Amino acid sequence: MTAPKMIDLRSDTVTRPTAGMRAAMAEAAVGDDVYGEDPTVRALEERVAALLGHEAGLFCVSGSLANVLGVRLLVEPGQEVVCDVLAHIARAEMGAHAAVHGLTMRTWPSVRGRLDVDQVASIVTPSAGPYLVSTAAVAVENTHNFGGGIVQDLAQLEAVAELCRERGIGYHLDGARLWNAHVTTGVELSRYGALFDTVSVCFSKGLGAPVGSMLVSTAAHIARARVQRKRLGAGWRQAGMLAAGASYALDHHLTRLADDHVAARGFAAAVVERAPSAVDLATVETNVVMVDTGPQPAATVAAAAARSGVGVSALGPHLVRAVTHLDVTVAECAEAGRVVGDLLR
Ligand SMILES: Cc1ncc(COP(=O)(O)O)c(C=O)c1O
Repeated sequence: MTAPKMIDLRSDTVTRPTAGMRAAMAEAAVGDDVYGEDPTVRALEERVAALLGHEAGLFCVSGSLANVLGVRLLVEPGQEVVCDVLAHIARAEMGAHAAVHGLTMRTWPSVRGRLDVDQVASIVTPSAGPYLVSTAAVAVENTHNFGGGIVQDLAQLEAVAELCRERGIGYHLDGARLWNAHVTTGVELSRYGALFDTVSVCFSKGLGAPVGSMLVSTAAHIARARVQRKRLGAGWRQAGMLAAGASYALDHHLTRLADDHVAARGFAAAVVERAPSAVDLATVETNVVMVDTGPQPAATVAAAAARSGVGVSALGPHLVRAVTHLDVTVAECAEAGRVVGDLLR
């Protein structure tokens, strides 16, 4: 007997490559990318740079690496990048920006990661003189992971771009799930991308590729980042097999992200039917649902859900996260919502 399938909503990174994607990867033309000779990597770098309205791209092993390289292009050691208190670059990249590149970070408070230009303006201090740390860049996240997948308001993104221009500082986008924002709002990827000096995007989240992220920027910036990537030991050789997976994902899995958003709303609705205050339905904008576990510890709820065949992540003392993706159906997500909701009754 095979074990019943786990409805795994811990993250949208858990997907397995589809048969079509595996075939595309197996057939990819490859070469040595450190020599700049992998045609599939180069094609992907050009494609994604153009999609995001930038000159050049650098294919990276992870979103964390793309962020670390992107932020470093804008910030010198001893300077700071500012971001919101829930930002992935601050909470979840193992302190790499400080540990590897000697940058400091300061954060502004946010509700669900939602961008507010006044909050940003209140902490930005470029050219701070001999006593204070100078701000060299602002980083924002869209969609916002720990904020529950919220989509940033375009007017706020533009207002912060204007602020950065006026103050002469850089602007980085952690766009690991920018695809989800684009599918939800219909705003062109290039319109989002062109607001920023550096942008990272991931293929290994909702798009369902097994590995890979892209950093885009000017050709001069990307040339610098390529050197730094190699310095960190993250240059790669016949990576075209991975780039082919990413390219396949763009061709076949971009517009279907809308299905994940429907599935997330279905999950949330099923939770709320049983535990009305556990999810604020108005905040379910893309493929992430944050569930308030009330008096129960999140870890207890996550463990009980796992025993019932549903994977969710405990993200805070009383907060669990469910993320929908292409390896789960709308019906499975609704079933998972019933399981989690029953635990919170
Ligand atoms: C918003 C955001 N940025 C960056 C990353 C880092 O991506 P990776 O896990 O590929 O390093 C993640 C990962 O989940 C993320 O959610």
